[in-house]
Amino acid sequence: MGDQEAAHGAAAAGAALPPLPPGSEEGGCPPWLEALRRRLHGCGQQHALAFWGELAGPQREALARELAEADLEALRPSLHKAVAAGQPGQPGQPGQPGAALEPLPEELCGSSIASDPESLRDWEQHGLLQVAEGRVAIVLLAGGQGTRLGVPYPKGLYDVGLPSHKPLLQLQAQRILRLQRLAEERHGKRGALPWYIMTSGHTREPTLAFLREHGFLGLCEDDVRLFEQRQIPALTPDGKVILETRGRLARAPDGNGGLYRALGDSGVLADMEARGVRYVHAYCVDNVLARVGDPLFLGFCVRKGADCGAKVVEKQSPGEAVGVLCLADGRARVVEYTELGDEQARERDHSGRLRLRAGNICVHHFTLDFLKLVVREFEPQLPFHVAHKKIAHVDESGNRVEPTKPNGIKMEKFVFDVFPFAKKFVQFEVRREDEFSPLKNSDSAGVDCPSSSRRHQMALHYRWIQGAGGRIVDEQGNDAPSPAEESETPTICEISPLISYSGEGLESHVKGRTFRSPVILGDP
Ligand code: UD1
Repeated sequence: MGDQEAAHGAAAAGAALPPLPPGSEEGGCPPWLEALRRRLHGCGQQHALAFWGELAGPQREALARELAEADLEALRPSLHKAVAAGQPGQPGQPGQPGAALEPLPEELCGSSIASDPESLRDWEQHGLLQVAEGRVAIVLLAGGQGTRLGVPYPKGLYDVGLPSHKPLLQLQAQRILRLQRLAEERHGKRGALPWYIMTSGHTREPTLAFLREHGFLGLCEDDVRLFEQRQIPALTPDGKVILETRGRLARAPDGNGGLYRALGDSGVLADMEARGVRYVHAYCVDNVLARVGDPLFLGFCVRKGADCGAKVVEKQSPGEAVGVLCLADGRARVVEYTELGDEQARERDHSGRLRLRAGNICVHHFTLDFLKLVVREFEPQLPFHVAHKKIAHVDESGNRVEPTKPNGIKMEKFVFDVFPFAKKFVQFEVRREDEFSPLKNSDSAGVDCPSSSRRHQMALHYRWIQGAGGRIVDEQGNDAPSPAEESETPTICEISPLISYSGEGLESHVKGRTFRSPVILGDP
């Protein structure tokens, strides 16, 4: 019997509860508080009420609500399971020595780089058809805390410093608008393209306020819906909840895999069904180049009859902070960079390239039927992963402590942990420079930061202009350097997503013309 079960057994058998702290008992102990105490005692979390006697009415109410919402009995077992799964040497554990990880077989892989033009045209056309018919929904994962970037507001509101100063959410909304327009031009129908934005405790209000303030960024308000993921308590290494203040638990969003529970709880899945959605495109907020709702990827997945798919780029180096998509025990899964063994990360194949090189860019395809199955059946089976973090808290005397090293654990589910449940899973490789420039860090890190996002976005637009027959020249009339190159006077260029989604439609603007930096094709 584990500690928790033993404690639970003792409480259930009617063992004496420790007294409430002084000041708690005025007016007697109401039955609900008695029940809460018993429950906490049963799972070894009675310290959560350590300061109950000092709390005012509303604080008591808030703490009682937090405790009622937390799945207290499941916390410790989940933690034990997650920690055990992360231990080296667990048989069959992806990423651990001995686990057989293979690249996906070729028949499950597609590519925007190596496919023939006819297939590419067909996939795009078919993807656009789904959009025109209103069969597609877009899900944005925007509940992350963005700790590494170090801003106090949601990443979606971040301005990477493009000439237009459009924040990420605006670039994404404009790509949705352009995609709808392209589908309409191609198929003569304008389908709704709903945008479901998953937020968490601290990202919800600012995201909503921003959208309202900016008229839902040009989208139809009915087609933009926020829904919230759960927050779960952070734990000490021995599984105890942590008090962030005397009357509040330290809690954190339950990871981007919290998506599935949130889709069910919030009614989003039912809303999608009512709208006639068949396919869902999910993506993460922090990639300035994200092709939101990409019709090529969509068309490929639909043509292949896949219930689940993921976009990948070739991993640049063994240490790059991206998960790798692979097969483990014959099932598709992503092994996160934090969980992949060093040796496996370095392994090369006969061509000298990394053997496990399918870098996950957090852009996923699902059929609605698959998501319904996940929500109904598989969600509870998704594992938690643990992250050791510095968690501010109050000590036994109620004084605030800001730890200097990790003192607690946050548990997260990962969005890709449903891949093994797919009946047919496919992988789609795209060019990094076209589609992936993550924003994870502040500029001091030098990579995956605002300045790299800005450079990569402008470099892409520079290539689009060249591809459409335009030229950008410097003061001497020579070709200006690409904005990708770091320079004191970088070439500046930006194209509104309302003008071009992926480089199309630019000839009328640039063909045969010569420009000097800055070149701005703004909102029409
Ligand atoms: C993620 C992927 C990783 C991939 C990388 C590419 C996961 C678990 N990992 O890593 O495999 O190589 O992106 O950039 O997907 N989010 C929520 N709720 C949460 C936590 C995160 O919505 O509770 C959202 C974030 O807002 C973001 C996305 O999920 O949009 C990715 O989250 P992040 O924590 O940044 O994942 P990475 O570690 O960068």
